[in-house]
Amino acid sequence: MKKDTFTFTNNRTNQSYEFNILDSTRGPSVVDISSFYKETGMFTFDVGYTSTASCESAITLIDGEKGELRYRGVAIEELAENHSYLETCYLLLNGILPSKKELESFDLELRHRSFIDENLRMLIAAFPDSAHPMSILASGVTALASFYYEHLEMKKEEDCQEMARRIIAKIPTLAAFAYRKSLGVPFIYPDIDKSFTENFLYMLRAYPGGKMKRTIDGVEEIKAIEIKALDTIFTLHADHEQNASTTTVRTVASTGAHPYVAISAGISALWGRAHGGANESVMAQLEMIADVKNVDAFIERAKDPNDEFRLMGFGHRVYKNFDPRAKALKKLQDQLKDELTLDSHLMQIAERIEEIALNDDYFVSRNLYPNIDFYSGVILTALKIERPMFTAIFVIGRTVGWITQLMEFREDKSSKIARPRQLYSGK
Ligand code: SDX
Repeated sequence: MKKDTFTFTNNRTNQSYEFNILDSTRGPSVVDISSFYKETGMFTFDVGYTSTASCESAITLIDGEKGELRYRGVAIEELAENHSYLETCYLLLNGILPSKKELESFDLELRHRSFIDENLRMLIAAFPDSAHPMSILASGVTALASFYYEHLEMKKEEDCQEMARRIIAKIPTLAAFAYRKSLGVPFIYPDIDKSFTENFLYMLRAYPGGKMKRTIDGVEEIKAIEIKALDTIFTLHADHEQNASTTTVRTVASTGAHPYVAISAGISALWGRAHGGANESVMAQLEMIADVKNVDAFIERAKDPNDEFRLMGFGHRVYKNFDPRAKALKKLQDQLKDELTLDSHLMQIAERIEEIALNDDYFVSRNLYPNIDFYSGVILTALKIERPMFTAIFVIGRTVGWITQLMEFREDKSSKIARPRQLYSGK
């Protein structure tokens, strides 16, 4: 019996089967069961893929036990505190942090690619004012596949890099246009003199002609602390291994579909409240709880197996410890509280939830800790970003992760079309 193998024994037939163990550079090893059905005539069964590795990847490492997250080996805390979102994008796309010169040219390229075709602007303008930004984003990104159809067949690395930079640069503009649409006000075009994150806030807030709001106290310019806070939020959302939306992106890419429709599918998957939509639901939940004295009752509801109520922003499939991004956001919240008006009432309710849940056996025994969505909403609200835009902010941060994962999939010669089987229980 070879050492690096895993033996399954079928006790019905007393037959044993050996499968190779493959080791990760860090984290759990895997049992390669790709020939399992061929050898045993049976399928493995794993609803929600809780114990299944769907691919080999070198992009992001999560250590769920330790609560650790690394992009290309660099710790998320290091990136959030000492690097910009654009540096993080370059790191994810290229595997190394950029030199000053590389960063400058990457930044310039994104600025020049931040505009969208006028016909696409008109498509967005045709949506009802009530349209949710996520529905406009998913539609707008699918439409980009028509404007850049040549990206369907990319042979060279530079074509892939161009495709990736294009979508990273255009998503903030599409998101800002979706927001302006919901207000019924004119769209603000990107300003190539502004950095990625400042430009996004500018497109959300500026008046036609590029003027910022004027009050009796003067002009409400975009503050450096606001830019840094949002840039950090983008960095914390940039990638997260094989989560539901990334798995969706890889699945759509596996059929040979256009890369932008794969990203659009990822946007749609992220929208769900069990996934990226949780940041919007957390704020709605804090408002529904309304007062610190009501927290205990809601905690009891969250624990009741017969009540479908769940504590939004709590729990995670992988983290069985604090989500390191939640810790980074909490630290950011503390840094911001003197400079921005954070909603102290909602923060008090959130702190009370955290205080109870982290000591209650129901949550402790299930390793349920606050995740990234638990804290982001209070900061986004302080940045004057309205709640329906919260998951769109997640999209802006995550697009680089999705496109990097898609490119890795395309480069992996062992990749196959995603086609799981089933446990049939029908007639
Ligand atoms: C994101 O995967 C990623 O990486 C995602 C993400 C990313 O960056 O891409 O990190 C972003 O999606 C963060 C998660 C945001 N979602 C929420 O905050 C929604 C609330 N959380 C839950 O819906 C839930 O925790 C999930 C969806 C996040 C995880 O679900 P799992 O892994 O399938 O866990 P489970 O449903 O099997 O729960 C295990 C137990 C159950 O109790 P028992 O059946 O064992 O008695 O924990 C309970 C659940 O009922 N539980 C909760 C709970 N989350 C899990 N109970 C109350 N409140 C919760 N929030």
